[in-house]
Amino acid sequence: MKALLSHAAGGPETLVLDDLPDPVAGPGQVIVAVRACSINFPDTLIIRDLYQFKPARPFAPGSEIAGVITAVGEGVTGWQVGNRVIGMIGNGGLATHAVVEQTRLFALPDDVDFDTGASLLMTYGTNYHGLVDRGHIKQGDVVLILGAAGGIGLSAIELCKAFGARVIAGVSSEDKAALAREAGADDVVIYGHSPFDKAQSKQLAEAFKAACGPNGANIIYDVVGGDYSEPALRSIAWEGRFLVVGFPAGIARLPLNLTLLKSCDVCGVFWGAFTAREPARFKAEVAELFAMLKDGRIAPRISARYPLERGADAIASLENRQAVGKVVVEIG
Ligand SMILES: NC(=O)c1ccc[n+]([C@@H]2O[C@H](COP(=O)([O-])OP(=O)(O)OC[C@H]3O[C@@H](n4cnc5c(N)ncnc54)[C@H](OP(=O)(O)O)[C@@H]3O)[C@@H](O)[C@H]2O)c1
Repeated sequence: MKALLSHAAGGPETLVLDDLPDPVAGPGQVIVAVRACSINFPDTLIIRDLYQFKPARPFAPGSEIAGVITAVGEGVTGWQVGNRVIGMIGNGGLATHAVVEQTRLFALPDDVDFDTGASLLMTYGTNYHGLVDRGHIKQGDVVLILGAAGGIGLSAIELCKAFGARVIAGVSSEDKAALAREAGADDVVIYGHSPFDKAQSKQLAEAFKAACGPNGANIIYDVVGGDYSEPALRSIAWEGRFLVVGFPAGIARLPLNLTLLKSCDVCGVFWGAFTAREPARFKAEVAELFAMLKDGRIAPRISARYPLERGADAIASLENRQAVGKVVVEIG
């Protein structure tokens, strides 16, 4: 098999396409011939040893796959050779084959292509959990989404619209603004690249407030962090929910007096831990996402496709803020 391996901590340029012995399925495991692996922001962190999980080296990054089962290990029930599947596997996805615990897989319907299958779980899964379980989203809510043209952001716009919310998208360029509008955003705030000084921060807060309207945002969906978070919090509604989702721009510090003034909640969203702690609820949410995909309420927006040999470029495109929507590495 071939795999794009990280041998030492570093950026995408350190990854090497290597030959490895074909993997063997242990008890409870299956081998998946990977057909598509989508790139997520954590892939940029895990290769630098900056993510919550630090796999033993060498390892291939790539956590979200779609493919076909080619072998099943002892004690595997419910899966057979030839089944089309998707799954979150932590790492090992940027390879021709992956060893996967059977419990991590979901069946991929015949009418859903591999690229789409590999672009569903992390983005829509995180957003469904964040918006529904943590944000208690309801029809008519105003939702301000930061980083709204990224993988998480664009799919969050779609879900918010499906739930009947009004969406304000925060993005860093005109091109990204156009994409956010196309995905359903009702209004857009274009912000510059941080760092922001006090005056710029105040100006951004005013822009968010103007776009959210007199009552403010019922939900702030913060995918970006850094200097963007405080101006966003200043535009929150009375009893709003500020959802902490990601920090590509750095970990923010929030003045807690703002939460008192708006009687609002700051809520963490940790989808990976949720899937492990509440597997039944996770499965129900994935079933709901497949139903939404089937009737067209959601449709992953894949903006770029790369071959395995260029998997490092795919990861770099997220790191350098070029990527929009989903980026997929096609394999085999
Ligand atoms: N909480 C959870 O359970 C969970 C689950 C999945 C992912 N996440 C996190 O969610 C975040 C987004 O993931 P993603 O896969 O959607 O990534 P992505 O596609 O790269 O989107 C991230 C967005 O952040 C914005 N950004 C602002 N400052 C940036 C910087 N310095 N570097 C890169 N991007 C910057 C960019 O938009 P603009 O240029 O328009 O600002 C970009 O579109 C990541 O932090 C990821 O770790 C969290």
